Amino acid sequence: MKVTVIGAGNVGATVAECVVRKDMVDELVLIDIVDGLPQGKALDMAESAPIHLFDTRVVGTNDYADTAGSDICVITAGLARKPGMSRDDLLGKNASIVKSVTDQFVALSPDATIIVVSNPLDVMTYVAYMASGFPSNRVLGMAGILDTARYRAFIAMELGVSVKDIQALLMGGHGDTMVPLPRYTTVGGIPLPELMEADKIDAIVDRTKFGGGEIVKLMGTSAWYAPGAAAAEMVEAIVKDSSRVLPCAVWMNGQYGLDGIFIGAPARLGKNGVEEIIEVELTDDELALMQGSAQHVRDNLAALERIQNS
Ligand code: NAI
Ligand code: 2OP
Repeated sequence: MKVTVIGAGNVGATVAECVVRKDMVDELVLIDIVDGLPQGKALDMAESAPIHLFDTRVVGTNDYADTAGSDICVITAGLARKPGMSRDDLLGKNASIVKSVTDQFVALSPDATIIVVSNPLDVMTYVAYMASGFPSNRVLGMAGILDTARYRAFIAMELGVSVKDIQALLMGGHGDTMVPLPRYTTVGGIPLPELMEADKIDAIVDRTKFGGGEIVKLMGTSAWYAPGAAAAEMVEAIVKDSSRVLPCAVWMNGQYGLDGIFIGAPARLGKNGVEEIIEVELTDDELALMQGSAQHVRDNLAALERIQNS
């Protein structure tokens, strides 16, 4: 098993570290355009192997030849948000980066599964899908696990319970337009609305929606620990063919009444990437939120088309 992480910045390096520490793949390749950066981070990671006790070979490079024959690729290349920027402000620049890295990667790894992390996530996943020519089960985006993790962390903080007992599902686009589903959230099997007042749940949902921005405001750039761990969880589900059910940005082909876009929904992940998109029953209000979120993704796709044609 060989995993390539494209972009050796904050998120890329964290994905790489989370993957190697799981000691589950033969080789991890970290690639970036900046000379020395992936090489230095890979060497540093390799030097942590005797402490963390993993055997994964870690390679840092600027040359796509080293990525050849990869089974999985995580794309984190691109610009990150700075204070005052939305994810959508990254659209044009990141689309050309994601297209370029996808083109170079797929030429040498035609059977891989691609996990996109670069923002704006749902649109960048679409860009990688189009550039790769891969079937839709082998291209997916990471956002739902991160948004859900934030939501679960905030619930645990509020209730003073272990995060281990909180199961939750959020759907829709990444961040501000996500679709919260409190009635599908449980704490040790107990539905959340039985343990928390509605206004408290609303406040936590709101904090989750703007969770990315909260961190940008604190430290001047976007998060990496939780995003990196989230992408590594997807890699693990595919490597181990574990059939985990995780919220991911997946290609809609009629599910939830949506077509032709990537958006967050629960998916079963395995050796073929997306093995199944799970359709849960939504109320009219939840479906309307999902439609609104999908419209935001479509608006962004249209904006990208305008940028590309200008
Ligand atoms: P960063 O600036 O730390 O790292 C980005 C890296 O990409 C840099 O090292 C840069 O040299 C590299 N890069 C740029 N162009 C490249 C190219 N053509 N080929 C290879 N490498 C290239 O940024 P960070 O914090 O790692 O974020 C990366 C992306 O992930 C951003 O777009 C950010 O918005 C997104 N993100 C998405 C999240 C999600 O939930 N989907 C969560 C957190 C970040
Ligand atoms: C986040 O949610 C910026 O998408 C990034 O942290």
